[in-house]
Order: sequence, then structure tokens, then C-alpha cells
Amino acid sequence: MRIGRFLMWVALALLPMLAKDATAAERTLTLTFGDSVRRFTADDLLARPDAVAIAIPNDLSYRREMSYRAVPLLELIGADTLRGVATLEARASDGFVAQIPAEYVRQAAGGGAMAWIAIEDPADPWPTLPAKSISAGPFYLVWENPERSNIASEYWPYALVAIAGVADPVERWPQLAVDAALPDDAAERRGQGSFIRNCLPCHRLNGAGEGDVGPDLGQPMNVTEYMTPAGLKAVVRDPKSVRTWPGQQMPGFGNDQIPDAELDALVSFFAHVAGR
Ligand code: HEC
Repeated sequence: MRIGRFLMWVALALLPMLAKDATAAERTLTLTFGDSVRRFTADDLLARPDAVAIAIPNDLSYRREMSYRAVPLLELIGADTLRGVATLEARASDGFVAQIPAEYVRQAAGGGAMAWIAIEDPADPWPTLPAKSISAGPFYLVWENPERSNIASEYWPYALVAIAGVADPVERWPQLAVDAALPDDAAERRGQGSFIRNCLPCHRLNGAGEGDVGPDLGQPMNVTEYMTPAGLKAVVRDPKSVRTWPGQQMPGFGNDQIPDAELDALVSFFAHVAGR
């Protein structure tokens, strides 16, 4: 009995240390390209000579103007390292994992949108995000002039913990493939692109993907097998128009993010995958 109690006290005394280690691990940004793995703390990044003050007039996550200390993503990765990389896998601490075409980051040099890693200074934390209890820190991928490259809303991962150079999602996950005989402009193909850009960061499809925020939309049952096309489209436009509960998380996608024709294509893609 006494020993049991002693061990319990030891365990209780150790707990905060374990918790502290966990926070320290979450507070680093890991960059993985091939065999090279680099880890940065906020202080490491803030001390870089290319860390500057930037203003983001329409910050996607804060929905207002924000200013940050930030480093250019292209320079942080290195233009040489980024050459030949198809996709940047950007992972957040909440299970959100975006697959961002590396081309968008390279395009900055040619006058496209420019990607920055905004760094939350531990001594001067950012405000909490609208309707959330956390800030966008410790690291947050933001875009300057996003309209120049038509940057998707899902390409602004906050609570960022890692970025890795990976293969194109369709090569990586054959479950996402559409029939090779389909023409280039087939709705199913356009829907596949829309799914990868907008949904894959949170939802897997038949096991494809890395996101863990929402359910797999292909298995055990494909969404088109239990939702009507109209119902599925309503969920994408405004999840609260279909059903509501306090813990609901999925964001709605407006016509500016997913135009009507693209939304139809997305439904065709789900139905196509269900039939394969
Ligand atoms: C930021 C994360 C996120 C993104 C991006 C996202 N979803 Fe969701 N989705 C969720 C979550 C979380 C749920 C579970 C319900 C909830 O909490 O809102 C969900 C639920 C759903 C459901 C209901 C599934 C069921 O069986 O109840 C459908 C359908 C759906 N999402 C489709 C989509 C489609 C299509 C896209 C892309 C256009 C998409 N989602 C993008 C997070 C996301």
C-alpha cells in the first residue's frame, strides 16, 4: 500500500515533465527533404537574417489584417532543395495535412503569390483564432498576394509542425486515380483535383491521404452511397444547413472557393471512385 502510494507520487511528480517535453516537441517546425531532417524552434527562425515584418491584409484564418515576423518559405527550404519536389506536405498539430503543389512556392520568384512561415514569438503570443481556443502559432503558413496564384483556402495551415517534400498525391495513392481513358477535361478528373486541394487535408478517401480531422469519405461506405448529390453539395457549401451540433468543425466552401461547376465535378469524382 505504502509503496503503491509512493509510486503514485513519483508518477505525479514526473507528469508535468512529460507534458513539458510534449509541448517542446510541438513547438518545433520539422523540415524533411530526402535524407535531410531539420528542426527549428521559434527562436531559431526569429534569429535568421531573413526574418522580417510582413503585413497580410486579408489573413485567411484571422479574417482580418495581421502582421507577423516571418521567413520566406522558399529561402527556408532552399531553392536547390525544392527543385524537382512535386508536393509540400504541410502538417498541423490537429491532424490537418495539406498537400500543396511545390510549384506555388517556386512561383514566388516569378511574381506569383509568396509563401511565408509566420513565427509566433513565445514572448508576444498571437490572439486566438475566431471561434477557436488556440492561436495560429507556433508556426503558420501565410501567403502574400494569394490572388496572384489563386491560392486555395486549405493552403494556409496554422499550428504547423512539419513540412516535407513528397510525391504528387495521385502517384502516392492509387485509390485517388480516375479511369485513364477519361479525357483531360472530364468532370471526374476536375473533381479529383478539387478533392485533393480542398478535402484531402482533413478527409481520407479509401485510405488515401494523411488527414485525420474528418472521416474517410470513401470507406466503409462512399458518401455518394448514403447522401444525395444535393445533400453532399449542401454539406460542402454550408455544413450547418444540413445538421448542427456544438462540436461541429467542418468549414463551408463558398462559390469563390469552389464554383458550382467544380462542385458538380467533385460529386462526379466521388461517384466515380465508388464505382471502381
Ligand atoms: C478543415 C477540415 C475539413 C475540410 C477541409 C473538409 N472537411 Fe468535411 N468534415 C470535416 C469534419 C471535422 C467533419 C465531421 C463533422 C464536423 O465536425 O463538421 C466533416 C464531415 C464531412 C461530411 C459528412 C460525412 C458524414 O458521413 O457525416 C462530408 C460529406 C464532408 N465532410 C465532405 C467534405 C468535402 C467534399 C470537402 C472538400 C470540399 C470537405 N469535407 C472538406 C472537416 C473538414
